[in-house]
This record gives sequence, C-alpha cells and structure tokens, in this order.
Amino acid sequence: MNSTQNNPIGFFDSGIGGTSIWKEVYQLLPNEHTIYLADSANAPYGEKSVEEIIELCIKNTELLLNKNCKLIVVACNTATTNAIKYLRANYPVPFIGIEPAIKPASLHTKTKKVGILATKGTLNSSLFSTTSHTIDNSVELIEQVGEGLVELIESGKIVSKEMTDLLEKYLSKLLQQNIDYLVLGCSHYPYLVPQIKKIVGNKIFIIDSGQAVAKQTKKILEINNLLNSKNSIPTTIFYSNTNTSILKSVLGNNPNLSVKKLDF
Ligand code: DGL
Repeated sequence: MNSTQNNPIGFFDSGIGGTSIWKEVYQLLPNEHTIYLADSANAPYGEKSVEEIIELCIKNTELLLNKNCKLIVVACNTATTNAIKYLRANYPVPFIGIEPAIKPASLHTKTKKVGILATKGTLNSSLFSTTSHTIDNSVELIEQVGEGLVELIESGKIVSKEMTDLLEKYLSKLLQQNIDYLVLGCSHYPYLVPQIKKIVGNKIFIIDSGQAVAKQTKKILEINNLLNSKNSIPTTIFYSNTNTSILKSVLGNNPNLSVKKLDF
C-alpha cells in the first residue's frame, strides 16, 4: 500500500491537445482520478524559448502537485522534449512524457522515408535530435513544422478553410518526398486526422503516441505500487485558463467529466 495511490494522475498541455492523450489513459485506466490543465492562455508553446517552456512547465507541475497528483503526464511533445529532464530532476513524482513516434515508424517504413509533423519547439529540441540519431540510418526523417495548426485548433477552427489550406501546404511537401508513414508529433494533431486522411488518402500510415503513453503510464503506476485500489467512479476534472467551450467540444457529452475555468 502506497499512501498516495488513490490520488489523481495529473496531465498538462499548452491547451486542449493533450486531451487526445488523456482519452487513451482514461480508456486503459478507467479507475483512476485525473486532473487536466489546459494552459491555453499560453499556447502555442512551440514558438517559445526553452527557458519559457520550462517556466510554464514548472507552473503547471506545481499546481498539479498542490492538488496532490501522484504522477504527472506531460501531454505535450513540446513540453516533454524541452522540459522533462528538468522536471524529473526537480520534483519527487514520476513523469510520463510524450515524444514523436519516430522509432516505430522507422521500423515499419517500406519507402524508407518517414514524415514528421510537429512544432518548431519539438523539432529543434535536443531530446528530439538525440532520439532521431538512434533510428536506422537508412531511414530518412522528413521534418515539417506545423506552424499555425495549434492556434487554429485552440480557436475552434479544427474544420475550416484556413486549416485545410495549411494542411495541404504542409502535407504536399511531405507527399512529394514519397513518405509512407506520417508521425503526428504534437498532441493537438490527432484531432486533425479526418482532414489529414482526406489529403493523404489511405496509403499513408498515420501514427501518434497516445496508446504508448497510456501503456507506459500503467506500467509506471504498477512498478511504483500507485494503481488506484478503490473501485468507485473516479473524478475527472479539466481546468482551462481561457474560455472552456473548445475544451468541452473535444470532450463530448460525458456526464462524469467536469470542465472548469481556473486562472493559473
Ligand atoms: N500539444 C503540444 C505538443 O504536443 C502543442 C504545442 C504548442 O502549444 O505549440 O507539442
């Protein structure tokens, strides 16, 4: 018995994108209490300096720790690749991060060309650079910054002419290079999969890291004896520091979820 095992799992992201990760964790671990912070007031993180990203991650982590979270999922590639080392070195709880799934894509590609769509902050990070040097060197990684995509998602324009135009511009560059795998390296992008499929067709495999993060979360909870031991309906609270309507729209009508505005 660990005294914190019935405490919540904390999540944070620069906005609503990390709910794509939260959904995978909720599906795999439906018994866990969860608290999610959507730091939409500071989105996008991907255009900020490493120092600014670390400061924002400290703020989010300390709020989640004040709410007694037993483990924190950094549900943002940009935050993970720039700040998880700092967080792990400075706070006492386990952190689960999310990194672009370039390793599985590089193992399965037939054309030996893997496209990756991510933020500037992720693609420029030293963690991403280290990971990309570990993949088979016969595989070429073709990077594309998804500039503007997070802002459109955060402003409720997931399905819009602006979104289609941007996606066509970015994806056509990747398609020209004969990619057969497209890695979504930002937790906001799974919400774009229907539009991406319309552009790339069904010959391109689209992968993200959500399921891997959920499995890793379960494994780390088990190893640390932190799985919730009670069999009651868990509380799930989402906090946004801007208008909550976009957050509500991606969560759907689940009566067990509570969405609140909080200044943080
Ligand atoms: N969801 C964040 C990620 O995975 C978005 C980053 C941003 O705010 O630019 O990278």
